[in-house]
Amino acid sequence: MSPHSAPPGSGVSACSQATQDLPDLAALPARIWQTLVQGSGDPAHGFHWPVLASLRQPGVPDARTVVLRHADPAGRVLLIHSHRRAGKIGQLQARPPVCLVFHDTASRTQVRAHGEATVHAQDALSAQAWQGLAAHSRGLYQGADDFAVLRVVVGELDWLLLDPAGHRRAGLRWSAGGWQSSWLEP
Ligand SMILES: Cc1cc2nc3c(=O)[nH]c(=O)nc-3n(C[C@H](O)[C@H](O)[C@H](O)COP(=O)(O)O)c2cc1C
Repeated sequence: MSPHSAPPGSGVSACSQATQDLPDLAALPARIWQTLVQGSGDPAHGFHWPVLASLRQPGVPDARTVVLRHADPAGRVLLIHSHRRAGKIGQLQARPPVCLVFHDTASRTQVRAHGEATVHAQDALSAQAWQGLAAHSRGLYQGADDFAVLRVVVGELDWLLLDPAGHRRAGLRWSAGGWQSSWLEP
């Protein structure tokens, strides 16, 4: 499949879909973060289930599906829950750069979020998150000491809208206290 063709099952075909309303470039950062907030609270939204990519070792990539638990547009922060002894914990402590890949089939949107992760276990952030966990979620862990929060501060976003009238892609970089956005496609 070429990078410009629609994935199987995406519902996108060159002749059956109308062109979507495109956002202003200036409005795109807020729109992306609004969608991340939406995805964090809605298991039916594709953005609830991103893939988190990290480096197992220098030059050796790793990736896994996770759940987006919280998105904070003002702080550019994404939160993920995990086991303190999971393999990714050591990876992120050694090499904080990560990429989270989100895909929502319904809106035909992909977002790639690049940032730096910090691991929080047995601290104020993990204790706060633990307090908010439902009993069935707590049951996944031995106890609070076993629980970790991955906090990702996002520095770059790559937004792709699959549109049969012409795919749209924009790059956003956090710089000098604001999001600098530019069209990458067309
Ligand atoms: C739908 C789905 C959601 C998942 N959500 C999480 C999650 O939120 N946090 C997590 O640590 N692992 C989650 N996992 C498991 C990871 O994908 C992975 O298998 C596990 O964390 C071990 O990865 P690691 O060895 O890189 O730490 C999820 C798996 C699936 C299939």
